[in-house]
Order: sequence, then C-alpha cells, then structure tokens
Amino acid sequence: MFHRGKSVVGLDLGSQVVKAVEITLEGPEPVITGFARVEIPPGGDRAAAVAEAWQRGKFRARSVVTSVAGPSVVVRYLQMPKLSESDLRQAIRFEADRYVPFELTECVLDCQPLARRAARSGEGAKEETMPVVLVACLQQAIDEQIALAQGQNLQPLAIDVDSFALANAWELCGLSDEAAAALEGSGEERAIALVDVGASRTQINVLVGGETCFSREIAIGGADMTQAVARRLGLENSDAEAHKRSGAEAEADIAKAIGPVLEDLSNELSLSLDYVENHEGVRVEEVLVSGGGSLAPGLVAQIEQATGRTTRAWNPLQGLRVAAERIDIAELEHWAPTLVVALGLAARVRAA
Ligand SMILES: Nc1ncnc2c1ncn2[C@@H]1O[C@H](COP(=O)(O)OP(=O)(O)OP(=O)(O)O)[C@@H](O)[C@H]1O
Ligand SMILES: [Mg+2]
Repeated sequence: MFHRGKSVVGLDLGSQVVKAVEITLEGPEPVITGFARVEIPPGGDRAAAVAEAWQRGKFRARSVVTSVAGPSVVVRYLQMPKLSESDLRQAIRFEADRYVPFELTECVLDCQPLARRAARSGEGAKEETMPVVLVACLQQAIDEQIALAQGQNLQPLAIDVDSFALANAWELCGLSDEAAAALEGSGEERAIALVDVGASRTQINVLVGGETCFSREIAIGGADMTQAVARRLGLENSDAEAHKRSGAEAEADIAKAIGPVLEDLSNELSLSLDYVENHEGVRVEEVLVSGGGSLAPGLVAQIEQATGRTTRAWNPLQGLRVAAERIDIAELEHWAPTLVVALGLAARVRAA
C-alpha cells in the first residue's frame, strides 16, 4: 500500500487545451494515477494552464514528457545505406539537408531504422539500403518546452512528437497485442490508421505491425469547425465554441455548419490512406479517431464513409487501470478520447 512505483506525467501542450495524465508503474502494470485538463483561454498562456493543471491533478511525479507538433517539426521516411544505429546517427547529419526545410544548425535531429520495412526490402534486391524515419525539430521549440517545464519546477524527461505519441498510446492500451493475435497465421500485412483531430491540426500515423510507416499532419481541426459555426450562424467565436459543444438540440445545425470542414478533412485523410496502401502494399483496415475535434457530431461517420474504412472513436481507457480514489472518473471518461497523446507521452514511464 505504501509502495510508490515509478510515475511520469504525459504533458500534452495542445494549442487550445493542456492535458496531463500521470501513469504509475505498479509492478509491470501501468495505472493512471492523475489527470487534469485545462483549457487555454483565447490570448491566455500555456504556463498558467500548466500551473493550474498541477493544482488540479494531484500528481505524484514532477517528471514530464512533452511533445512537439506543427510547423517546427518535420518527420520524413527515407532510405539510408545499411549502417549500425550509431553510424546512422552520424551519417544522417550529412543526409538531412536534402529532407529537412530548416537550417541544420538551428534544429535537433533524431532518427531510427524501421524494422519491418527493413525486413521487407530485404526480401528484394535492394539490400544495401534500409528505411529510416527522420525527425527534425527547431531547437527553439525544444528550448521553449524545456523552459516552460522548468519554469513550473517540472523535470522534462523527454520530448516526443504528437504523431508518435499516438503510436505509443496504442501500444500502451494493449491494442498491439490484440492486433498481433488477429494477424496470427493470416500472413497478411494489415495496417491501422491513428487519427487525432485537435483544435488546430490533425495528426495521422499509420502503423503496420505496431511500427509507423507513414505520418502526416493536416492543418484542419476543431478551431476550423468553430469558425464554420460562427460564420454560418453569425456568432462570436466563443459563442460558436459553446454552441458547437452543446450536444443534442443543436446537432443538426452544427452538422450542417461543419459539413464542409469534415469533408475537407476526410478527403485529405482518404488521399493519405490511398497513398500508404499504394506505397506500402498494405491494407488499412481500420481508422481510430481521437482528439477533442473528433467529438464533433458526425465526424466518425463522415470519415468512415469518405475513406471506405471501418472507423471508430478511440477510448484509450479501455484496458487501462485507473486509481479511482485519486481521480474524478466521470471527468476522465468524458475527456478520454482527447487524452491519447498525453497517455502516449506518459507511456515512457516504462523506459524512465
Ligand atoms: N463536445 C465537443 N464537440 C465538438 N468539438 C469539441 C467538443 N469538445 C471539445 N471540442 C473541440 O476539441 C478541440 C480541442 O481538442 P484537443 O484538446 O484535442 O486540442 P489540442 O490538443 O489543444 O489541439 P492541437 O492538437 O491541434 O494543438 C477544440 O477545437 C474544441 O472545440
Ligand atoms: Mg493535440
């Protein structure tokens, strides 16, 4: 009872909402031991939202994992000569120029060989190269996050990328085991698409055998839906925001107003999924949607219809234990689909 396992807080510094979820390892089992969600008021600052999250969250840990997204980070999938991981890290600095739109002196690079795709290309003739995922992030964006965390007396453990946090959450929730079991014996390569619709952007990460093979950011999100509601109904943004979330009685109005935004978003998604299928020779079986924007009426159905792929809302709490005595469970469950990135960040507790 008095044993304190290792705890880490996944701190998702969203453009509109700060989400913090603490995971504690009890033996090997990850348990959710803290949660807070704080909306950043228009013109408000993230540091204040983080401070408030710490007041509300009853967290044990001060170690945090945050993430970057948006224009300060790029992710590229490329082929490199076969090298050891440490040689790859050296070599990538000389290659990165061709793939990264930033001055290399102003950014931080990271890279990782991709196991599945290496195995696949190994079957063919081009054995002298291996597939690698490369991430470049502006140093300034990283410095800002470190300063923000330290300014709140928090200890930054790692800085991730939103789209990769989705994949880590997927693995944490035990969905990778389920997928492996479903695949058993079929020999077929099946892919799933994780799609997080935030306020200002949508992240896609397509996984095959639990490993990323494609990721992309679409600059469409819940804020575009709010603006569409504001325009159509002649409301101020803040009223449109409340109206959008007001549920049943306004649903038909809202659905009409946000229709064109959902259409644009699902068309972009369709393009991406078709591209992955053509390039990777896999079938994207399922789309799992998360993020606050995904709570909009009709979004799941629209994506399913437009992409022609089974689509469901992702509740990342399924399969995870929650320390009920420390958390407002109703609140946690209400916002569950918006906590996927924070959970994926906190999943790093297992490596801490
Ligand atoms: N019930 C609801 N119906 C529709 N939209 C909702 C609802 N609740 C929240 N949202 C929308 O969710 C969005 C916030 O979601 P989320 O917390 O995932 O964003 P974020 O992480 O801050 O943004 P980003 O990832 O783009 O930086 C807002 O646009 C908000 O309007
Ligand atoms: Mg987000």
